[in-house]
Amino acid sequence: MQAQLVSEIAAAADLGALEALRVAALGKTGSVSALLKTLGGMTPDERQAKGPQIHALREAVTEAIAARKAALEAAALDAKLAAERLDMTLPAEAAPQGSVHPVSQVMDELAEIFADMGFAVATGPEIEDDWHNFTALNIPETHPARAMHDTFYFPDTDAEGRSMLLRTHTSPVQIRTMMREAPPIRIIAPGRVYRSDSDATHTPMFHQIEGLVIDRGIHLGHLKYTLETFLKAYFERDDIVLRLRPSYFPFTEPSAEVDVGYAQEKGRRIVGGDGDDAGHAWMELLGSGMVHPRVIANCGLDPDEWQGFAFGVGVDRLAMLKYGMDDLRAFFDGDLRWLAHYGFGA
Ligand code: PHE
Repeated sequence: MQAQLVSEIAAAADLGALEALRVAALGKTGSVSALLKTLGGMTPDERQAKGPQIHALREAVTEAIAARKAALEAAALDAKLAAERLDMTLPAEAAPQGSVHPVSQVMDELAEIFADMGFAVATGPEIEDDWHNFTALNIPETHPARAMHDTFYFPDTDAEGRSMLLRTHTSPVQIRTMMREAPPIRIIAPGRVYRSDSDATHTPMFHQIEGLVIDRGIHLGHLKYTLETFLKAYFERDDIVLRLRPSYFPFTEPSAEVDVGYAQEKGRRIVGGDGDDAGHAWMELLGSGMVHPRVIANCGLDPDEWQGFAFGVGVDRLAMLKYGMDDLRAFFDGDLRWLAHYGFGA
């Protein structure tokens, strides 16, 4: 009987079958339990003769069940582990790769170019008051230039009664820097600006970089040299030709619109070469000038001691020229196919 039971137990296919065998042998009405019960009705002699055998049988069956149970559980664990195993040699699923937006990339590039010339990066708030955005820049309330800026105004004024607005240019950073720092000053101020305007070449939000130098004895030559050095580095060519055209900004005097020579190639404007040469033309690129003495005085500096130049340039415009993009609005659509087409992102 023992051999029979032990071999059945050893062959139990799973934990359920094993439990059924245990109940059939060791349960209340099991076969081994029944044998144990017969001991009570035996004579002392009989009990002495059969008792050890029956107890040994129970022992052997109990052990066989425990052994089989351990084996079945180990096998179940192995199977589970095998099913869950990761194959580390399989190639990973491709995840889309992000990239720096062209506008951000150009701003980073410009910060590097100007850092080489000793310019620090300055910032200011996009929500400005009309004193910093206009008045301090020599654009009083009645000045027609205010109307030209297509300003987004907020309905409320600040604690000092100043109208609040979205800055229309980065020039207020000039004011904030001159009021915060003692000259000499050499900064660029990259950032977002806002005007209520939208077509293929205008978006209500766009990017500018302002440049400001305040020192003793600064003149137009410094401005032209700085712009030439910057544009040669940015467009990575030496044949950049600039033309300073007299212009008007309330905060600079004299003021100059800066044009750059370019050639038209396959419907694309390629910056470089003399705009007066055959096949070349001039393109307006940025506004600039010598900081108006009144602006310097508005910031608490003595204009007889300190002079400077300033310029403002559209970053989006610079990016379009460098990468051959033709619709400004596409910059802000977030269309990954457009970015990929121009080599940005996956
Ligand atoms: N702030 C001017 C604009 O947005 C550009 C500019 C900056 C002109 C600095 C002169 C000097 O149009």
